[in-house]
This record gives sequence, C-alpha cells and structure tokens, in this order.
Amino acid sequence: MDKLRITGGARLHGEIAVSGAKNAALPILCAGLLTAEPLTLSNVPRLNDISTTLRLLGRLGVHAEHGADGTVQLRADKVDSLEAPYELVKTMRASILVLGPLLARFGQARVSLPGGCAIGQRPVDQHIKGLAALGADISIEHGFVVARAQRLKGTTIRTDMVTVTGTENLMMAAVLAEGRTVLDNAAREPEVVDLAELLIKMGARIEGHGTDRIVIEGVERLHGAEHRVTPDRIEAGSFLCAVGAAGGDITLRGAAPGAMGATLAKLEAAGLRLECGPDWIRARMDGRPQPVDIRTQEYPGFATDMQAQMMALNTLADGTSVIVETIFENRYMHVQELCRLGAEIDIDGHTAVVRGVARLSGARVMATDLRASASLVIAGLAAEGQTIIDRIYHLDRGYEQMEVKLRALGAQIERLSGKEPA
Ligand code: EPZ
Repeated sequence: MDKLRITGGARLHGEIAVSGAKNAALPILCAGLLTAEPLTLSNVPRLNDISTTLRLLGRLGVHAEHGADGTVQLRADKVDSLEAPYELVKTMRASILVLGPLLARFGQARVSLPGGCAIGQRPVDQHIKGLAALGADISIEHGFVVARAQRLKGTTIRTDMVTVTGTENLMMAAVLAEGRTVLDNAAREPEVVDLAELLIKMGARIEGHGTDRIVIEGVERLHGAEHRVTPDRIEAGSFLCAVGAAGGDITLRGAAPGAMGATLAKLEAAGLRLECGPDWIRARMDGRPQPVDIRTQEYPGFATDMQAQMMALNTLADGTSVIVETIFENRYMHVQELCRLGAEIDIDGHTAVVRGVARLSGARVMATDLRASASLVIAGLAAEGQTIIDRIYHLDRGYEQMEVKLRALGAQIERLSGKEPA
C-alpha cells in the first residue's frame, strides 16, 4: 500500500497544469453508452476512478482506449452485457451512472447497488424514483437495481434533494425518451453542465443545464462527438489551499476560475492574494491565514468537496473558525487525523469548531477518503518535520500525480511504494 512522505516547511513556487474534472469525466464516459458511434474525449485525467470506469465499460463490451495524452476513444457498437457487477461497483459508487444510459439505449440494465462509503450512506433512491417516473419497471433484487423499459416516456421529475449524479443519470435516461422531460430541483454543478454540453454535441436537445430546471426533448438516437472535459475545480481549489497553508506564489494553468466563485471568495478571506485570467489563477500567500467560517452547500455554494481542504487551512489560522457540513452525514473523518498533526478541532454533529494553532507537527496519519487525503497533504506541507500519510489509494482516486505536481512547486514530498518508511 503506497504512502506519501512529506517534510513540511517548504514554500511553494511555480506553475502547474490543472487536470480535467474527475466528476465531469465519469458521467461523460458513461454517456458513451448512448451511441454506437465513436466518442473522442480529451483532457480526461489519469485517475483510478477513471480506469475503474473504463474497466466497467469494457465489461459491458465498450471499446475504450486511454491515450498518454489524456484522450479517450470510446465505441459502444458492440455492447454485449447490460450488467454492472458488484466487484466493480463496490469500488466506485459512481458506477451507478451506467444505469440511465443502459436503460435509455438498450431498454434494460442490471446494476449492483453501490454500498455506502466513508462519508455517508449515500443512497440512490432518487435515481430509482426518477427512472420509475420515466416509465421504467425497476426493482431491487439480490443487491442489484434491475430495470426494464420498452421506451422511456418523458415526464416532470422533482428530486427530494439536489443530487449531482441523480441529475446526471436522469438526464442521460431522458435524452432518448419519448417526449419532454423536466428535471426540477436539478443540480447546477459545472460537471452537470459539462455532461449536458457533451450530450448536446451528440444530438441531444437540452435546455436549462446550469439552472435548477433542466428541460430535455427526447430524440430517436444520438451520434458520436468530440469533447474536452472541463477543468477540475476541486483539484484547483485543493492546490490553492496548499499554497495558503505552506505560503508562496503559484500559478494554476488550464483552470476554470469562473466555476470557483465560492471557493475563491473564501480563500481571499483567508488572506490569499488571487489574480485570475480566463483559464489561469495566480495565488500568493505570506504569513498565517485568517480563520474563515464555511457552510457547505450545493453549487454555486461552497462545495462539500472542498470542506476538508479548507479545514486544513483553518487549522493554522490566527483565530477560530466554524465549519458546517450540510451535504453528507459523516464527512469529518479527516478531523482525528488532523488532530494527530496538532490541530485543535471539536465536532458537534454537522458542525466543526477549528481553533487555529501557530504550528502543526508532522506525524504518521491515515487517509480515510478522497478529500480527507488532500486535507492531510495540505496540513503535512505546513507541519514541522515529517508527515507520513498511509492508504493514499484514496488520494489516487481523484488527484492525478498530486505529489509530482507538488514537487514541481518545490514541496518536499515523495511516494513510498509498498515499503515501510525508515
Ligand atoms: C457527487 O456525488 C460527487 N461525485 C461527490 O464528489 C460530491 O461530494 C457530491 O456529488 C456532492 O457535490 C461525483 O460526481 C462522481 P449527491 P453524488 O447525489 O452524486 C443524498 C468527490 O469527492 N442522496 O449530490 O453521489 C446523498 O446521500 C465525490 O469527488 C440521497 O439521499 O452526491 C447526499 O447526502 C465525493 N438519495 C446528498 O443527497 C439519492 O438518490 C447529495 O448527494 C441521491 C443522493
């Protein structure tokens, strides 16, 4: 099991490229099931979750190639299975995103129910409710979602809460349904918008993406397309938190500052000096951060996927901050590990109170989930001495070569593959 070894204290300088967004690439890859024609996708990040998705698509009979340049060629003209098996779905809950496309194009699907995960129970009842509303005969059998439909029929669906992959699954089901579908209470995340833009390039008729009301006019079939995946706003935000904690002057290339309003506002309040261009962000930081209160919300509010990283910055702040996690019920797994580094954090239900300390001290810590891992890296960059982070397979799910990018910025960080640290 790989580890990261960080020697804290180095300020960060230089520039790095932001990768394509994992949470846009995952639904976009699944959209390849909606046509027999080739899909050419660029700026697809090289991540474990991406390779898991390509493996799953391969099991369904989709031809998938991921080139070294980040381009993925997909062709779903020989799909010979409609079942997403447990052993793949259990490693990545986003596998549920094949359900909508399989049902829309082939009229049936058998997808293993994703288990929960470290950050919460994360049910998929809204996905099921929405597909049933579109006319699918859908049930849970032996741990699988089993769905059938002659042809889905458009309708109005209002999800009980805003759900990102729920919106994406239902949008991909509706594009080939008969008639009009309205998704009310839809997710507005940039990754949902990116998926909609791809579907439109494939011939889908979609309006309102990016708002909470998406209107889809079903069409008979979709055709191939080319698409560049939007930049990863969470990876970019994570690197900005890193320079906030370690200090320095970095520039992120290939970024999408326009999709990062809430994060950039909080980072400026913490004391970062930011300059933004159309596709780049320069961040400078000197001295201790200021404490910043955070309340996670659906987009365009402050992203839950940035909560752990912002908390790491707050542990070093000159004062106390309050963080409220409103989206997931258990997204504070990083707190105990941050406390091992000397942070002072108290949790009361969904609320964490962070009393900033002047310095953190390096220690052995354990990653528990994807964004918790990033939070520990950020804290380790600022901690005095050495920090060893275990179980960084969590990090590799969502960050493309994070330690390579950080080393390019001057951080003292290395990957220990499989061997016990000295
Ligand atoms: C997506 O997960 C992201 N994953 C998550 O990113 C992100 O944290 C989350 O959206 C919120 O922004 C991908 O896009 C692949 P939800 P998703 O459905 O779609 C409840 C990361 O770090 N809910 O928007 O699974 C759910 O339990 C990952 O990259 C239901 O109750 O999240 C949660 O409390 C982690 N029933 C809330 O809604 C449902 O049917 C929001 O979940 C669906 C969701």
